[in-house]
Amino acid sequence: MCRPTAALCAALCAAHLCAAARIQLLNHRPVIGVLAQENLPGDQFARGSSYIAASYVKYLEGAGARVVPIRINRTEEEYANIFNSINGLLLPGGDVDLQKSQFSRAARIFYRLALKANDGGDHFPIWGTCQGFQQLSVITAHKNLLTLTDTKAVALPLTLTPAALSSRVFRGFPKDLLQSLIEKNITSNFHSWSLSVQNFSRNAKLKRFYKVLSTNSDGKKEFISTMEAYRYPFYAVQWHPEKSSFEWIDKPGMIHSTAAVAVCFYTASFFVSEAMKNQHHFSSAAEEERALIYNFSPVYRGADAIFVQNYYFD
Ligand SMILES: *[C@@H]1O[C@H](CO)[C@@H](O)[C@H](O)[C@H]1NC(C)=O
Ligand SMILES: *[C@@H]1O[C@H](CO)[C@@H](O)[C@H](O)[C@H]1NC(C)=O
Ligand SMILES: *[C@@H]1O[C@H](CO)[C@@H](O)[C@H](O)[C@H]1NC(C)=O
Repeated sequence: MCRPTAALCAALCAAHLCAAARIQLLNHRPVIGVLAQENLPGDQFARGSSYIAASYVKYLEGAGARVVPIRINRTEEEYANIFNSINGLLLPGGDVDLQKSQFSRAARIFYRLALKANDGGDHFPIWGTCQGFQQLSVITAHKNLLTLTDTKAVALPLTLTPAALSSRVFRGFPKDLLQSLIEKNITSNFHSWSLSVQNFSRNAKLKRFYKVLSTNSDGKKEFISTMEAYRYPFYAVQWHPEKSSFEWIDKPGMIHSTAAVAVCFYTASFFVSEAMKNQHHFSSAAEEERALIYNFSPVYRGADAIFVQNYYFD
């Protein structure tokens, strides 16, 4: 297969062949960055200062992508270099400050780079899960609009909006799977904070940027559970598709049914297909090899750990 260069793609885009170029020139060796975050306080397994839950790595690997860990506390120059080498970014769940942490700093830097790239016809997708969803909302709104909800360990059925069926995220889902998503409690919610429908609707920046695909309620407050940007390949889920296949803590809200596992795969596969539309690459095979997560080993944290395996970084 011909591996198009960035220059070729840029030339095709300049010739207004962007859409056609994207369809023809899929990158079947996508590499996705997963952003690390500050260690959880009191994590007895921690080595170094930051981690990535292995479930997010497996999630992407299971859908045909390789993963590069993006370390926190690096220079903007280093981040720009990584950005130009990878095909998409995943912002995982966790528990850090969405305005002051090094995780939030790196997320903002990549977000800005992604806006600029996409504006120039360079398709660069971002996926946010749980905290990643919240982080994207804080960046887009330029403030934290989250509110406490009773959603710490509960599986919920999605209330899809009319826009969901024609959305990029869901339109490729098998019909019976969408039916399961609507009817059965199969999306895992493990969050204390949510973006309420009320705050979303009152914020012009968020409303203009994101199309709401699903909502949920904790019985008192209605919150946004899935959204995609109108004009950018940015996607956010407040729930955890990856847990159904790759996390095993025995708690309410953990669902391992066939349908839940299928949802895990279809969301990952969708995002990886978005990354395949991007042609960034490392400057050499050796540089790519040094960056991949295969250089690190996950640590087993025990059957009752919220993340069964973590990667740790200095
Ligand atoms: C990295 O962390 C140290 C200590 O927290 C801080 O002083 C430094 O400014 C950080 N560097 C970057 C690039 O964020
Ligand atoms: C709206 O956002 C504010 C923060 O700006 C927060 O204090 C409040 O609880 C939120 N209200 C709802 C209903 O989400
Ligand atoms: C299933 O979801 C509904 C909300 O639609 C919720 O009220 C109920 O508690 C959930 N059931 C379980 C067993 O989690």
